[in-house]
Amino acid sequence: MTSSTIRPASDYPPGGDAFRHRHLTGIAQLTPWEISYILDAAEEWVELNRSGAAKHDDRLAGLTIINAFFENSTRTLLSFEIAGKRLGADVVNMHAAQSSVKKGETLIDTAMTLNAMRADAIVIRHASSGAVQLIADKVDCPVLNAGDGRHEHPTQALLDALTIRRRLGRVEGLTIAICGDVLHSRVARSNILALTLLGNEVRVVAPATLTPPAMERMHVATFTDMDEGLKDADVVMMLRLQNERMDGAYLPSAREYHTLYGLTPQRLEKAKPDAIVMHPGPMNRGVEIDSSIADDPARSTITEQVEMGVAVRMACLDILTRRQRGVPGWN
Ligand code: NCD
Repeated sequence: MTSSTIRPASDYPPGGDAFRHRHLTGIAQLTPWEISYILDAAEEWVELNRSGAAKHDDRLAGLTIINAFFENSTRTLLSFEIAGKRLGADVVNMHAAQSSVKKGETLIDTAMTLNAMRADAIVIRHASSGAVQLIADKVDCPVLNAGDGRHEHPTQALLDALTIRRRLGRVEGLTIAICGDVLHSRVARSNILALTLLGNEVRVVAPATLTPPAMERMHVATFTDMDEGLKDADVVMMLRLQNERMDGAYLPSAREYHTLYGLTPQRLEKAKPDAIVMHPGPMNRGVEIDSSIADDPARSTITEQVEMGVAVRMACLDILTRRQRGVPGWN
């Protein structure tokens, strides 16, 4: 996919044709211009959040949003909660032990329960890949995927794309190295889909045991050597070692992992001089990333990513609820 497939901001199809989906379950369903449409909308929310003006916008007043999180989360849950509340919605958070919802039947029951509560939007995080789509198929309101297993985490990829676009002026034609535990990462998967779709060169840099199979089918080059993988990269995206998803010995030790794959200032020198460093959080300092890089505002975009997260989620909640709010052109 080349950048010529990206529509300029002024050239979206009108009204609801600009974003035709009822749910946001993954990046895989989106076109490049649908991604740009969300990013442009989010861009406006960044400015309104900064000026304080967003506090006076209550376009989601009277709507109930359920955050159904079957897996632990701090920043994503908080981010969706703030996004909904800032637009005037009533936001209800539901935490559930993941062990109680492991079976398909139970999940469908959960979906029916959530549906019976007549929410206007449901945000779901679940440990099983595909669980969010399954629930989306059963409920009457828009569903937003806040991370399902190793599958997708679309709002994370969107906030990452927005962060890159703001820092580097574009999110196309860049070389982007996604480094670390790619095998277990829904963040990596959604980012690979979004960033290749937008016309970037995406590389995966990971030990062989943490590299998913058939990466070439996703148009991604794989590297097991960190120095080679980082060479001339514009963006270095570090991932957390997802120990909770590892059911065997993928690595000799965290210390050896740091020696071979930890992002140190020396290693970062392989990338372009103005390369940015990203991390979705939570970070394992001293394992996949050194504190001196994580805390360097000239290179690290980590806090900016969190800020962009709220704006992107405001944009997604607004866009996905336009049909039930009767916004003209969104039937
Ligand atoms: C990520 C997740 O939960 O997939 N965190 C997040 O949403 N910011 C990544 C992770 O847990 O490492």
